Amino acid sequence: MASDPARRAVAIQADSAGQPPGRGVSASQPRADGGLPPSIPAAAPGSAGLGGAPLAGTALNGRAVPGSGGAGQMAPAIRAIGLTLGFGDRDILSDISLDVRPGVVTALLGPTGSGKTTLLRTFNRMNDKVTGYRHAGDVLLEGRSIWHSGTDMMELRRRVGMMFQRPNPFPMSITDNVVAGVKAHRLAGRHELKHIAERRLREVGLWDAVSGRLKDSPFRLSGGQQQLLCLARALAVNPDVLLLDEPTSSLDPVATESIEALVRTLTPQLTVIIVTHNLAQARRVADRTIFLNKGRLVEHGDTQQVFENPAEEETAHYVSGRFG
Ligand SMILES: Nc1ncnc2c1ncn2[C@@H]1O[C@H](COP(=O)(O)OP(=O)(O)OP(=O)(O)O)[C@@H](O)[C@H]1O
Ligand SMILES: [Mg+2]
Repeated sequence: MASDPARRAVAIQADSAGQPPGRGVSASQPRADGGLPPSIPAAAPGSAGLGGAPLAGTALNGRAVPGSGGAGQMAPAIRAIGLTLGFGDRDILSDISLDVRPGVVTALLGPTGSGKTTLLRTFNRMNDKVTGYRHAGDVLLEGRSIWHSGTDMMELRRRVGMMFQRPNPFPMSITDNVVAGVKAHRLAGRHELKHIAERRLREVGLWDAVSGRLKDSPFRLSGGQQQLLCLARALAVNPDVLLLDEPTSSLDPVATESIEALVRTLTPQLTVIIVTHNLAQARRVADRTIFLNKGRLVEHGDTQQVFENPAEEETAHYVSGRFG
């Protein structure tokens, strides 16, 4: 399956990337499961969810879906239903039910250790092979369980792309990094690759810095530049959903501003979920905001409401900076 370098890199990195130190993938399990590049997403805007089942804001199994919007919303891009998961004996996420609206930016907020990264990584099944991982409940992408036996992992990771907190360029040239997923998925012919790489590098604002050294190793780029490269790579496979885990934590204010502006332009074609500790950033870029605490979903609503009129005291504490 992973016979050429791009395909192999994409498959292997998709399984291991973003792993916190010391949290290894079980050595007894194969790493390259056909996983896709840390790229993206889910349901196309306007696509049907749950095979005609209730839209956001309606009840599931007789209970309300916290954080879902009102009736008449488009079907969710991603729906979590009673998702409880953990590693070994310990629960990390408890009974999370939520609908992620398609074609908008959703911020995922919460104190350190609240489970934000774990939740993101669940959406494209990056936790599956972590030792001790277990889950109950479900996650639907375009109405279909991501754990369905027919799920094509490569395709899931193409549709649900991810950019990690720490950049993870592949050990290949800058150009090859950008088009690694494109090649692995055979999304374009050879003659188009150069053009695709330039377009994506321009899109993330990296072109001027790297146009003279496209064949160089990405590891000579600064940390922020490596992050932008990974974003270009994630976008190059045309994901439906993009998961961004603290994407600007290693960027300077100028690069941060350009990423925020870029994120805004990605919708409504893409559904974006962005984890950030920067509350001002969440207010600037997100239409919707989710607040997690200790593995529980505390609140999910329009960003303005969550910040200015939170329904929960815990949320009020957090968004006012009084937390912990
Ligand atoms: N592979 C793993 N094995 C065991 N525990 C894990 C693993 N991954 C995460 N955890 C634990 O799950 C909890 C949530 O971690 P997670 O990385 O999702 O938090 P977070 O909200 O993203 O935090 P931060 O804001 O610091 O990035 C933490 O207590 C963490 O130690
Ligand atoms: Mg995290």
